[in-house]
Amino acid sequence: MIINNICCIGAGYVGGPTMAVIADKCEHIKVNIVDINSDRINSWNKTDLNQLPIFEPGLKDIILRTRNRNLFFSTNIEEHISRADLIFISVNTPIKQSGVGAGMAVNLQYIELCSRQIAKFAKGHTIIVEKSTLPVRTAQTIKTILNAEVKSESKNNDLKSFSILSNPEFLSEGSAINDLEKPDRVLIGGEDNDAIQTLVEIYKNWVPSNRIITTNLWSSELSKLIANAFLAQRVSSINSVASLCEATGANVEEVSLAVGADSRLGNKFLSPGPGFGGSCFKKDILNLVYLCNHFGLPEVGSYWENVLKLNNWHQEKIVKTIVNKLFGTLTDKKIVILGFAFKANTNDTRESPAIFIVDQLLKEGANLIIHDPKVNEEQIENDLSNFNRKQLNNKKYSYSQNDKGSWSYSSKLFDIFSNAHAVVILTDWNEYSILDWEEISNQVLNTAWIFDTRGLLNRINLENLNTNIWIIGNG
Ligand code: UDX
Ligand code: UDX
Repeated sequence: MIINNICCIGAGYVGGPTMAVIADKCEHIKVNIVDINSDRINSWNKTDLNQLPIFEPGLKDIILRTRNRNLFFSTNIEEHISRADLIFISVNTPIKQSGVGAGMAVNLQYIELCSRQIAKFAKGHTIIVEKSTLPVRTAQTIKTILNAEVKSESKNNDLKSFSILSNPEFLSEGSAINDLEKPDRVLIGGEDNDAIQTLVEIYKNWVPSNRIITTNLWSSELSKLIANAFLAQRVSSINSVASLCEATGANVEEVSLAVGADSRLGNKFLSPGPGFGGSCFKKDILNLVYLCNHFGLPEVGSYWENVLKLNNWHQEKIVKTIVNKLFGTLTDKKIVILGFAFKANTNDTRESPAIFIVDQLLKEGANLIIHDPKVNEEQIENDLSNFNRKQLNNKKYSYSQNDKGSWSYSSKLFDIFSNAHAVVILTDWNEYSILDWEEISNQVLNTAWIFDTRGLLNRINLENLNTNIWIIGNG
């Protein structure tokens, strides 16, 4: 099958960069990204590329090359579905907030909605590709919805048919463009060999054949969950080791180096931090646990659940460390927070450990100044109030009215440290490691602490710093 027209439903962190790279590498294919959110589409279409809805290194250049050449952003979902030979589904798949499986199972409402739209508007034969991370066997749900529509239309002359593939995304935010241009592997699962080969041919425009893995549908869906669970497990493992290092006088950087030198283990994903965040790890593990319990494997579920429990405990431990070192109280103490994104090089704050940590410091009565190079004040406000609303069962909540603590936002890194009781590094932005820490240590109070939850200060000479320093995993 020859693909001339691709449609991607969902112009988010996955759909946007993935389609941009496909359009860049396949000039002969027209790629339309559609989304129900018109604000998001408008931002993708803005002339000023600094206003794209997501920040990702290298993305602007690709958008500049491809937009309105063979990459288009639109809210006209019906039209682009009807013209597409191949449709990627890249909508968000949040955890269910109520009903059966609440707090664990994935809410497939948007997937169902998209399937119904596709069933209604698609024409001829269309390949449907699951890009979103989904529970195993979701392809069956999509198939059932599509087949029902085909049957009901069989009296018409306008016959339609579908092939469903799973093609999970492994991109990591902050390095998404590189991950897409030079992927470790592309995974394609399906039952229809022609459809699989059609998608393989698209990727072969830039990915070597030996990096394209084809499997059955269910293996592909499950592999994505398992890859994320393994990655999250490594982060929890090294964070647990960091606590042990702090207790024993070992140094987690040295332990990571020694352990990672074993080629069987490898040296990636061994950096301790404030706990993992991002849209995927927590959701995918919850979903995996739900699956295990559903299939009568509670011991397997509980094994994976501990990865999450450790992550929660680890964040609480960081808050306790800060409170204890500041003499058991934060009331009216000025604390500078460096970083709010869940990791460096992204403006994404979904499940960022900063949300929980900042929330707790505010509840202890601290006065915070929060800096992040890419996350804006409005986003921080939304995240903090949504976090509290969830805890208060959806009642509106505002810190300034109800809490002892307060926070303000700073877009700059100067003039914010003077007389601070503490500085807390939460995101591994490079700009924080190149700050003049000697100067900062002179500006903060004599008894102040610098809490480095990312180990950034391991790279600098600390001898001339006139302040107390706590570095994660550094006993
Ligand atoms: C991704 C993955 O696709 C998802 O599986 C994963 O679990 C989270 O990360 P992402 O691109 O990061 O999703 O999500 P997001 O940035 O929220 O983008 C999803 C987009 O889909 C939104 O812009 C939303 O408006 C759009 N959408 C959602 C639709 O266009 N139609 C719908 O019916 C629902
Ligand atoms: C992840 C997966 O890596 C990607 O393959 C999948 O498609 C989506 O989920 P992402 O969430 O963008 O990507 O970021 P990732 O680099 O995996 O980091 C996740 C979290 O783990 C971040 O909070 C990060 O700071 C943390 N982390 C990562 C550590 O604390 N230490 C590490 O060594 C690595």
